[in-house]
Amino acid sequence: MKARILAGLACAVLVFSGYAEAKEEQKTSSSVQTQKVEQKNKSKLADGKEAKDLNILRSASDVMDEEEVKLVDINWTKPAAGEAQRYERSFENAPPMIPHDLEGLIPITADNNMCVTCHMPEVAKDVGATAIPKSHLYSIRNKKDLDGKLSDDRFNCTVCHVPQANVEAKFKNNFKPEYRDANLSQHSNLLDVLNEGVR
Ligand code: HEC
Ligand code: HEC
Repeated sequence: MKARILAGLACAVLVFSGYAEAKEEQKTSSSVQTQKVEQKNKSKLADGKEAKDLNILRSASDVMDEEEVKLVDINWTKPAAGEAQRYERSFENAPPMIPHDLEGLIPITADNNMCVTCHMPEVAKDVGATAIPKSHLYSIRNKKDLDGKLSDDRFNCTVCHVPQANVEAKFKNNFKPEYRDANLSQHSNLLDVLNEGVR
């Protein structure tokens, strides 16, 4: 009986010391992790400032703490439709950004789409808007010309076309588009070139 108790005690001591070692290991690995996170948080932005506002993306505990989150004051594109300057395209056949105010034009609902009242080809010219291109009047999936009718896939314009805001870009963008034709910095021709390079 005594021998059994002693053996039991010895086992307990062994198990406990193993546990303590494991704990110690965990501690060191977690402090290495903390160091890594700190290093990451110190990354500098293009303007040389520290990336403090990016910490929230990098550390799960900060995401739960909303106390220091400040909403940015965003000013969306102001000029009304008809008074705006078109933006240059971001790259060849990129969806153009919306240069005019959207007040009263969104949300787009199943019964009400204000965008088409100015942008359908039959009216666009009269109001000075860019006409919806051929690619939107065509079912790409069924390879079918829709005879001037807007494809249902294109109904929700703001999925692809977005207005702009005056927010400061945190990272510099060095991308420069190259257009095969100077005209393509202001216009699109996707449907004409969609199958380029496809046999
Ligand atoms: C009252 C008429 C009108 C309405 C409604 C309207 N637009 Fe416009 N849109 C224009 C005009 C005019 C332009 C040309 C720039 C300007 O003069 O404002 C334009 C420009 C654009 C452009 C840029 C085209 C280019 O060539 O760069 C996009 C994209 C656009 N509108 C999308 C939309 C979307 C999406 C909606 C609906 C949420 C919408 N527009 C509603 C009149 C309108
Ligand atoms: C699925 C994404 C998508 C949706 C939805 C969409 N567009 Fe586009 N749009 C594009 C892309 C991509 C281009 C440029 C390539 C091309 O010609 O199709 C474009 C081009 C345009 C152009 C420029 C035409 C030119 O000649 O330069 C206008 C204007 C436009 N769209 C208006 C609209 C309007 C209005 C709606 C809603 C009724 C709409 N788009 C819905 C993706 C979309």
